[in-house]
Amino acid sequence: MSAPEVFPPPPEVSAAAHIPSFKKYQEMYERSVQEPNAFWGEIANSFYWRVPPSQPLLRYNFDITKGKIFVEWMKGGVTNICYNVLDRNVQEKNLGDKVAFYWEGNEPEDATSITYAELLKKVCQFANVLRDQGVKKGDRISIYMPMVIELVVAMLACARIGAIHSIVFAGFSAESLCERILDSHCSVLITADGFFRGDKLINLKVIADEALKKCAEKNYPLKKCIVLKHLGRDDVFCDGTSNASPPCKRPCPNMQENKQEKQKRSHPQTPWNPSVDLWWHDLMKNASLECEPEWCDAEDQLFILYTSGSTGKPKGVVHTVGGYMIFTATTFKYVFDYHQGDIYWCTADIGWITGHSYLTYGPLANGATSVLFEGLPIYPDISRMWQIIDKYSVSKFYTAPTAIRLLMKFGEEPVKRYSRKSLKILGTVGEPINPEAWLWYYNVVGDQRCPIVDTFWQTETGGHVLTPLPGATAAKPGSATFPFFGVVPAILDEAGEELEGEAEGYLVFKQPWPALMRTVYGNHERFETTYFKKFPGYYVTGDGCKRDKDGYYWITGRIDDMLNVSGHLLSTAEVESALVEHSSVAEAAAVSHPHPVKGECLYCFVTLRDGHEFNKTLIDQLKKLVREKIGPIATPDYIQNAPGLPKTRSGKIMRRVLRKIAKDDHDLGDISTLADTTVIQQLFSDRCKTVL
Ligand code: PRX
Repeated sequence: MSAPEVFPPPPEVSAAAHIPSFKKYQEMYERSVQEPNAFWGEIANSFYWRVPPSQPLLRYNFDITKGKIFVEWMKGGVTNICYNVLDRNVQEKNLGDKVAFYWEGNEPEDATSITYAELLKKVCQFANVLRDQGVKKGDRISIYMPMVIELVVAMLACARIGAIHSIVFAGFSAESLCERILDSHCSVLITADGFFRGDKLINLKVIADEALKKCAEKNYPLKKCIVLKHLGRDDVFCDGTSNASPPCKRPCPNMQENKQEKQKRSHPQTPWNPSVDLWWHDLMKNASLECEPEWCDAEDQLFILYTSGSTGKPKGVVHTVGGYMIFTATTFKYVFDYHQGDIYWCTADIGWITGHSYLTYGPLANGATSVLFEGLPIYPDISRMWQIIDKYSVSKFYTAPTAIRLLMKFGEEPVKRYSRKSLKILGTVGEPINPEAWLWYYNVVGDQRCPIVDTFWQTETGGHVLTPLPGATAAKPGSATFPFFGVVPAILDEAGEELEGEAEGYLVFKQPWPALMRTVYGNHERFETTYFKKFPGYYVTGDGCKRDKDGYYWITGRIDDMLNVSGHLLSTAEVESALVEHSSVAEAAAVSHPHPVKGECLYCFVTLRDGHEFNKTLIDQLKKLVREKIGPIATPDYIQNAPGLPKTRSGKIMRRVLRKIAKDDHDLGDISTLADTTVIQQLFSDRCKTVL
């Protein structure tokens, strides 16, 4: 592989940055790993503690051969995360009038905003509502809502009273919601009537009802379901008279709406079960604006978030109050180099960890102003993202490689229609970003002015663990670069030996940072087995990783996406990255496929850009490209034209399904997380039956 280009931080970014040089990063990093108690103790001191934590802050065991795995940070310290991200900003930092969120709805004309003081009031009210409904500290509350301000209100209200929120992404099915409610024994479900995703109406309450029916069939009849009227509110937005909450900022009345738009907004009656269902707005009417927080131990559970497991059954990842609070706040500050006055936009849904850590807790802990976007990247048109960036003068923008590749398909023109002059830093998360997408993001979106932070982390890690710092780290496209403060990575071989210098193998971490998950809800053994058994003494990420001669870390994809061709370890991500460098290819997915001689070989699916043709010449060019980029060993044995790829609702390619398609195996297992099942049949019928 030829040496990748290096992009040093722009001097003007470094000059104003919290961490202005790589030397400063190294000094702080050394201290963070040698003296974690002192390093994090100073950071913890900048938060409000009812009872300050005492030293040592960290107690843990990572070695399963020595006993139970546990991680504790600041145990005995007493605080409240909601108090820290709201009350403290309003009362001590004078940020009450500052906008916490600009909410941008699915339709461009639906927009509103909420200040820190207003958010605090709403959270207090809803916390009182929950208490009135009998919710107590430690109770689990399931939240199944669209991207609305009330979702943040609901989660912070739980945190305020010490209840444990379990947010289920609103794109999940009734079955998945039911499974998650049952696994964590939730006592209340908070949902909404429905919402529009593009021009598609999602009747969320209908799905929630189906989930509750399934729960009841499994002997778990949930007694309370609080329902936000969100679709109804669209009507409220337009009538020009009502006290819409949050208030409507777009010109009323409804004369502006044309007939077609109105039709789109019309929605069916919300199904209602009076013995279970409660309207959010009814409950809020008389709720007090003041609510004493529940003072919690730093190690009390803050939330559960389910993530998929290799066994098929999702794992309830548990994060606790104190460590998660200080780590998300610190990573947000340094990785996005946050300064007062920034407008920050993270496009992730709050239903995923990115939305928890970097749309809610991290930004709020810093008193930041964020954009909360309900809609889709290309609705109503392909310029929507760039239009929103200009509308709010977004300075820090955080999105996923899959979104970047999607937008790339439409070329530069839709981007260039908007100035994007406010942008300062760009971020990516969720999967390895192929250098071609990285360069497009850098050159086209960021006009070569904005450093890119490629942040590697997981639901389990709570926050960024490998990441560049924009004023300090010279970026290499496709590399998540170096560890964040307190994080000690290592690369192990199959035998569990640590590899030094340039190496490739299993990515593990040697000691805990404050936001590492503490357990799998209700199944500590699964936590120990999944993350600590394979290599005793280490947290095992499940990702493959390469360290180059300069010490940069390159995630090569999940270990299960690795393949061994004739005894050579290959990463499917590496092959995909080569394929998408071809000008005809918009997206590619490579999977391992059994081979009688080589053991495994590569089967590749490629989605072409509009107007490009799939033919023998293209196949030959692609094979040549992979050979050139990686070596003859990586030459694909199969390349199939794929009009679409099977993806989860969060945009991840389901390679497990592609492996089955390649083998003509119709037993696809659980495909409930698949966003669109219609591509599957087509992919089966277009299968390559012989080696190219
Ligand atoms: O494989 C890695 C990939 O996403 C996995 C974690 O997924 P999840 O828990 O859903 O959290 C996603 C958001 C943090 C990782 O094990 N991943 C995440 N970020 C990156 C990445 N792979 C490469 N580069 C990244 N920046």
